[in-house]
Amino acid sequence: MPAFGLVLPAAGEGRRMGEGPPKAFRLLAGRPIVLRALDAFARISEISERVLVVRPEDAGSVSARWAADLANVRVVAGGAMRQDSVLAGVRALSESCEFVLVHDAARPLVRETAVRAVMETAVRTGAAIVALSLKDTLKRADRDGRILETIPRDGIWRAQTPQAFRRSLLLDALERARAGGAHLTDEASAVERIGRPVAIVEGHETNIKITTPDDLRLAEAILAAGF
Ligand code: CTP
Ligand code: MG
Repeated sequence: MPAFGLVLPAAGEGRRMGEGPPKAFRLLAGRPIVLRALDAFARISEISERVLVVRPEDAGSVSARWAADLANVRVVAGGAMRQDSVLAGVRALSESCEFVLVHDAARPLVRETAVRAVMETAVRTGAAIVALSLKDTLKRADRDGRILETIPRDGIWRAQTPQAFRRSLLLDALERARAGGAHLTDEASAVERIGRPVAIVEGHETNIKITTPDDLRLAEAILAAGF
């Protein structure tokens, strides 16, 4: 397996979490969310470099506060949009990383099996993401909440992270997205918009993105249940 670099974007404002410290620095069952997210990759020996992307104003305090946990992690300053933060992170990796894993700091419950699956698929195909198929029936509604139609759900997936790419492909895709003024919500979109294929690997429901205080409680419950 070739060498991977890991980029963990944690430079968001966490607005939907409400008042308090930045989302990624909040405690989940006693340990900061961001450190739990890093823990998920700790046993994967193919990952040779790790980059944590935080808000410029947090970079110094993060490095000092968690010096031991971040001993093998480069801390870099992110940007206004997620794609700026990820690009800063990818640029901080050395060329010896042939592949890159990008993972939301806000998804601390990802399983190692999902990480390894997306890595293996990316090495075979160049680009792969973890996603979930849908179990619920999909509806399109108007602004008043009246159903307009039922949307067939086959072929529809919910994109998650980790997302894994050949480093040169992701770098090219993100730089072209920036030059083109594209606004993206994940890295796969950058690769899709330059016409390159991205494979899907089925993920797991407990890999939630902690967005609101309710999500934090749900994550605590998932951990307590032993998932
Ligand atoms: N992120 C980032 N840089 C940004 C925006 C987001 O690194 N400029 C990161 C977040 O820190 C998070 C991940 O991207 O780990 C997913 O974003 P999201 O869940 O939306 O987090 P926030 O943007 O922090 O939250 P909110 O949208 O509620 O403000
Ligand atoms: Mg956001």
